[in-house]
Amino acid sequence: MNKEEKQFHASRRKEFSRLIGKDSIAIIFGSTHKNKSYDADFPFKQFKNFHYLTGFIEANSALMIAPAGINLPPGKKGNNIFEALYVMKKDPLMETWNGKRLGFEKVKPELGIDIGFENELLRLILFPKFLNKFRKLYINFGEMINLTGEMKKILTFFMESLNIVASNTEVIDVSYLLGKMRAVKTEFEIKQIKRACEISIKSYDETLKIIKPGLNESQVQANLEFNYKNNGSKENAYPPIVAGGENACVLHYDSNDQVLKNGDLLLIDSGAEYNYYCSDITRTFPVNGKFTKLQKLIYEIVLKANEECIKKIKPGIKFSEIHKLSDDVLAKGLNNAGVLKDKMDIKKYSVHGVGHHLGLDTHDAVSSSRKLKEDNDTLVPGNVLTIEPGLYFPAGSKGIPKEFWNTGVRIEDDILVTNNGGENLTRGMIKEAGEIETAMRN
Ligand code: GLY
Ligand code: MN
Ligand code: MN
Repeated sequence: MNKEEKQFHASRRKEFSRLIGKDSIAIIFGSTHKNKSYDADFPFKQFKNFHYLTGFIEANSALMIAPAGINLPPGKKGNNIFEALYVMKKDPLMETWNGKRLGFEKVKPELGIDIGFENELLRLILFPKFLNKFRKLYINFGEMINLTGEMKKILTFFMESLNIVASNTEVIDVSYLLGKMRAVKTEFEIKQIKRACEISIKSYDETLKIIKPGLNESQVQANLEFNYKNNGSKENAYPPIVAGGENACVLHYDSNDQVLKNGDLLLIDSGAEYNYYCSDITRTFPVNGKFTKLQKLIYEIVLKANEECIKKIKPGIKFSEIHKLSDDVLAKGLNNAGVLKDKMDIKKYSVHGVGHHLGLDTHDAVSSSRKLKEDNDTLVPGNVLTIEPGLYFPAGSKGIPKEFWNTGVRIEDDILVTNNGGENLTRGMIKEAGEIETAMRN
């Protein structure tokens, strides 16, 4: 791990430690392998909160944070430990099969975490007698219930002691607190997101060149994914949506297996992930390279909503206000064009929210507190958001002229909130209808 990464994760642990306070202890489990079929697992993916605090991407790990310091292992006198990482034991045979393990001795030099232990030793701190000394115990309950293998056994042991611990010590899930922290990105994180955006933009540019009637949605997806990997991304941030024609009206369409038709639109919602950080971009292209008059009319309305919302972004404004602005612009545009009689009906056709926070998760951790209508609604510098207005007219849309049915348009950009307003991280991405047509002609 390079110095910058080490410093970033150390700063996150320090801040988390400050927030939970000296009368607390946190035990946060990392992810474990998930079986795909027979003896093959899905590619390993670390839990995002654990990644945020450690940057460590081996399975079967756990992080302990004790803001007041403790003796570790318990009983050992005088080694005041503030943080410890529990990792897999070195095992030459297993490493031959599944790859190198860091080993506890390298935890400090490689990751900058105070001390490393083999994960079996975790049991020594999962006892009620030890945990009951703290007023609060922070755990990643929502994630750890999915643990598998050796960590599942340790978890079962932990659960039994939690019955007793909870009578004395408040047990709290870490996700709310970490969600709040994760809402404000550091310089390091912004760099990762920018890189993810750059890779996506390059890949969309390449993919635009191949779009034509007769191609299958899956071929468009394959081209994007090839370019993501070819440009340094390990994987998609989320399953790509490659939706021709009416499929664009299905918001989470991901079967991506239909043939693109002449005269239809193609909505692509996809993003590369870089070093665990996501990008999330949507563009809507004419399959044959030229928008029809009706398609252009809808496209321009959505584009206006996208641009007006981006212009509005600055510290202090509420995300919910931007959401309302988006619906207002869409409603007014449709109403002026005679497509929508009653502006109050706009939600039927704009359907989803105007955007979400973006980071280690595509819908980043802060979303849950937004649902609680908490202060995360007010934007602050360091927030990264998507702005993604859309209009969808599935067949049978009552009150909408038939010629608009089976049309879906969404335009999504990724925006960093700065003191000077919104910085569009995907501004390098083709967006205006005329530019799209020109690019597709060449
Ligand atoms: N790709 C999911 C979203 O745009 O929110
Ligand atoms: Mn998206
Ligand atoms: Mn999105």
